[in-house]
Amino acid sequence: MADLRNNFVGIKSPNPFWLASAPPTDKAYNVERAFKAGWGGVVWKTLGEEGPPVVNVNGPRYGAIWGADRRLLGLNNIELITDRDLYTNLREMKQVKMNWPDRALIASIMVPCEEHAWKAILPLVEETGADGIELNFGCPHGMSERGMGAAVGQVPEYIEMVVRWCKQYTRMPVITKLTPNVTDIRKPARAAKNGGTDAVSLINTINSITAVNLDTFSPEPSIDGRGSHGGYCGPAVKPIALHMVADIARDADTRGLPISGIGGITTWRDAAEFMALGAGNVQVCTAAMTYGFKIVQEMIAGLENWMDEKGHRTLDDIIGRATPNVTDWQFLNLNYIAKAHIDQEACIKCGRCHIACEDTSHQAITSMVDGVRHFEVMEDECVGCNLCVNVCPVENCITMEPLEPGMLDQRTGKVVQPSYANWTTHPNNPMAKPAMTQVPEPAE
Ligand SMILES: Cc1cc2nc3c(=O)[nH]c(=O)nc-3n(C[C@H](O)[C@H](O)[C@H](O)COP(=O)(O)O)c2cc1C
Ligand code: SF4
Ligand code: SF4
Repeated sequence: MADLRNNFVGIKSPNPFWLASAPPTDKAYNVERAFKAGWGGVVWKTLGEEGPPVVNVNGPRYGAIWGADRRLLGLNNIELITDRDLYTNLREMKQVKMNWPDRALIASIMVPCEEHAWKAILPLVEETGADGIELNFGCPHGMSERGMGAAVGQVPEYIEMVVRWCKQYTRMPVITKLTPNVTDIRKPARAAKNGGTDAVSLINTINSITAVNLDTFSPEPSIDGRGSHGGYCGPAVKPIALHMVADIARDADTRGLPISGIGGITTWRDAAEFMALGAGNVQVCTAAMTYGFKIVQEMIAGLENWMDEKGHRTLDDIIGRATPNVTDWQFLNLNYIAKAHIDQEACIKCGRCHIACEDTSHQAITSMVDGVRHFEVMEDECVGCNLCVNVCPVENCITMEPLEPGMLDQRTGKVVQPSYANWTTHPNNPMAKPAMTQVPEPAE
């Protein structure tokens, strides 16, 4: 049986599934039930500084995007950090950690960007026995307008400064949670590393407006006829999060920096993908909010089964395995040629592939042959773009078949070459560099 035990910057948990800082981790009642269900760790809902807690709106907090089957694909929220008293949270955290010593308990913190504020809260958190802290530099709404959250996370100098304070004033491992609301995620990650962070976690939520009510002309969620931008999360954000995780894992300046992957993780497969791209563990919010705490049991069983099937014994066998396969476009092999193929047995003759290819791609799929509805790829036109695969409603009905070296590409009239060749050496590239025939090894 695969061993799912996780050691993330020295913080041990029985599995790599942590609940992200959010409503599921808002209080002891929730966290106790989450641990009973099997979660390996939690990042407690973000704590603010001592004093009157923040106040949330008293109406709808969520906007949403659904698939055609009403499955929740994206969730947007305008909730702030915890609206409960700091000391109530700290007391509950201490009790929960005592009750569950084998689980990871991380305190998420967001206080003003002033040294004394961080210096004041860190010993209070340390006293709870928490295993580490996560710096919330991500919250895109409400708190950022007060100079916290994303307002700090968008300025690398501030990140570095706050991380440095935290490293100075606590012995607990520091995880820096990054906002995706930046153009280049490597910059805040580098700043966190320069400040001495033990790890980064990402992504927090993405600035968004999910919908506008066309009767009232109010953005959703609507509070008395008006709306505000909120933070987007759930399955829809996973591709953005995966890219950002990979960017940090690949960057020469941050390579090797532990990453806690967050964003749209709903199944064991999502989690495995994050880890393959370099995440040392994962955090989950929307999936727990949508399906309940017990979803972790499917994640654990699914990951174990897959690892057993593939012969991966520990998480270290999968972490970062896909990272070297992420490259820049210019290094992709231009001698790799594939063509679409339609399985006539599986085809239900809906015609979607034809319309997609005819109207927006390369006019490479028939619709009528000898007066009969028939959908077939014309290899002499197909550029292998795979749009048809993605619009076909029948899974695996259209597949992409690579041409073996030596075969003729009917579209170009050229024989497929066995060698690897990329854009850097292509004759059409005015900047062609000689003899760049290998994907460069990542710099050490
Ligand atoms: C209602 C709600 C409240 C959240 N509050 C916090 C918070 O207090 N601190 C924080 O760091 N992240 C917060 N998040 C962001 C999540 O921790 C997580 O980064 C994000 O939802 C992406 O993960 P997901 O796609 O699994 O939901 C919140 C998310 C939601 C939906
Ligand atoms: S792969 Fe692209 S070009 Fe080829 S048939 Fe499909 S849509 Fe058309
Ligand atoms: S989209 Fe798929 S099912 Fe529909 S005609 Fe094309 S191949 Fe057949």
